[in-house]
Amino acid sequence: MPEKFYITTPIYYPSDKLHIGHTYCTVATDTLARYKRLQGYDVMFLTGTDEHGQKIEDKAKEAGVTPKEFVDNIVEGPRGVKDLWKLMNISNDRFIRTTDDYHVKAIQRIFKKMYDNGDIYKGVYKGKYCKPCESFWTESQLVDGKCPDCGREVQDAEEEAYFFRLSKYADRVQHLLEDTDFLEPHSRVNEMVNNFIKPGLEDLCVSRTSFSWGVPVDFDPKHVVYVWIDALSNYITALGYENDKYDDYDKGWWPGVNIVGKEIVRFHSIIWPAMLMSLGEPLPKKVYGHGWLLLDGGKMSKSKGNVVDPYILAEKFGVDALRFFLMRTFPFGSDGNFSNELLIQTINTDLANDLGNLLSRTVSMVDKYFGGTLPAEQAADEALDAPLTELASGLRDRYEEAMEHYAPHKALEEVFKVISRANKYIDENAPWALAKDMEANGSRLGRVMYNLLEALRLSAVLLTPFMPETTAKIFDQIGACQGCRTWDSAGHWGSLSVTVTVKRGENLFPRIDAEKELAELEAAAEAAGKAALPALEIEPLTQEKVDFDTFCKSDFRAVKVKACEAVKKSEKLLRFTLDDGTGADRQILSGIHKFYEPEELIGKTLVAIVNLPPRKMMGLDSCGMLLSAVHTEKGEEKLHLIMVDDAIPAGAKLC
Ligand code: ME8
Repeated sequence: MPEKFYITTPIYYPSDKLHIGHTYCTVATDTLARYKRLQGYDVMFLTGTDEHGQKIEDKAKEAGVTPKEFVDNIVEGPRGVKDLWKLMNISNDRFIRTTDDYHVKAIQRIFKKMYDNGDIYKGVYKGKYCKPCESFWTESQLVDGKCPDCGREVQDAEEEAYFFRLSKYADRVQHLLEDTDFLEPHSRVNEMVNNFIKPGLEDLCVSRTSFSWGVPVDFDPKHVVYVWIDALSNYITALGYENDKYDDYDKGWWPGVNIVGKEIVRFHSIIWPAMLMSLGEPLPKKVYGHGWLLLDGGKMSKSKGNVVDPYILAEKFGVDALRFFLMRTFPFGSDGNFSNELLIQTINTDLANDLGNLLSRTVSMVDKYFGGTLPAEQAADEALDAPLTELASGLRDRYEEAMEHYAPHKALEEVFKVISRANKYIDENAPWALAKDMEANGSRLGRVMYNLLEALRLSAVLLTPFMPETTAKIFDQIGACQGCRTWDSAGHWGSLSVTVTVKRGENLFPRIDAEKELAELEAAAEAAGKAALPALEIEPLTQEKVDFDTFCKSDFRAVKVKACEAVKKSEKLLRFTLDDGTGADRQILSGIHKFYEPEELIGKTLVAIVNLPPRKMMGLDSCGMLLSAVHTEKGEEKLHLIMVDDAIPAGAKLC
């Protein structure tokens, strides 16, 4: 019976569509899962979505739909989470949604279990409350002492809540982090211990009453379970823990490996093991905290507007090229700077120049010199062959070492050393020169070709977890039998049949015209950015009331434009000469040149407030103000002067 291996991604928060950062994490986990399958493990790979919490409730309200409708659209809808994983060829065996019925019931049981064993107790949550937003905040969440959402004053507040005795587990968690390999990379251990455990672990508030979109505590239903208790438990409920939907929990899957981003290492390496300790369940084998993909030095986030759409990249460059780029370029445990330039450069260098060229040159030479099938008689040349065959023979071990240490980038580095060496081997052996005298050199040429095909085969086996579709095409082109595509065969030089027949195929990685593609990507990003902006933004109504008498003091008049010109040395100002019905000209300056050319306004009847005190602008008096309507459309400020019917005479009072 093959050994079981269980691996998970974080479950994604479907408050927005996913971006390349999320894709990075899922592709990495998929690559590790495929690697373990290649090795022969019976793999269970879980991903899913974390769908409860106040943010989703608020977003749904904003969108005018129920929270369930809102998450359904992002998870199951077009170009949603499930579509993206399908596109990226993610091989998850299971997909959990925390709104799934079985999970909700299991969470209620988990909560009750911890309540019954005394690790969850009822207390009072003290914090700050913003009345208009109906939101509780902790002191540290406030911005300048005010509500981080609306900027208004907050007040002291108390809310009845349940607490988890996290403090009770502080010593055991510290030991787990410091004395075992539970958390990797090890560099994250100090941060957890020094910043969170040593200053004193406080009990954790694990229920809320201020919103309702969550799993209700069944024995006290005005409370909903804290979203992290709900979310972290997914790793075991998806196997069947405390539910009847699945029955894999006791079948050797758990404990598994949890791959997570660095900002949620705290939840996974402190709260999660403490929860499992409380439940008396085994702890994960490993929590691995990977780094972030950064854009312009900062983390991608929808709210910052600096996200990269994986759909656009995958559709443009191909799914495998994108998967490969993500794994090849960024050391898994560290942050890395994403750029389209880097993506194109990696595809051109590694895939088009190195791998693609090696494949197409080799296959076309076998075709040209041997009609596609290598001869049985082949002549080795130890001195010339050894640098390639020895490097390639040790490849699987070096690759395995890197993959076992969660360093897929290093594993790829090793594969590409062999690919480069094979390209060099072509130059050293100059097959075109050997081919000039086939009688004398045919058997040597046969061996050179065999060695190249074999180097390609070994590389392709090990590239399979990274680029599953491409490697299948490589196997077909080099004529690799099923038995030559396995993990076992990757450990041996010489699995390919000596008299192998190749099959020329498409060029797998055409070179990318960087300049053209970058310009197109920029245009697509700009269009997507504009589309993401609200179509229309209108300033909120002023809440402060003005009394009627004060309003009546403002004198609004119809005014006719007699002359209009741009003010010299000012980019914004227009100078209006207006007929206000008094017989004397009135001068008003207005900063609207961006919106109107002076000529188009002459003869129009506008509205002005005429009893404002005069103001000096660029040395000229402005006696009043013209009224206009303003709003924002797709991020762009718009302004329209209020124009009235020509039938209204200059000087008419508006009231
Ligand atoms: O944290 N680079 O969900 P999430 C790399 N629901 N990884 C990134 C990234 C970036 N730019 N941006 C996001 C949650 N991620 C919780 C998880 S698990 C029980 C609950 C990663 O959708 C991030 O680090 O906000 C995290 O691991 C994952 O995407 C999901 O983030």
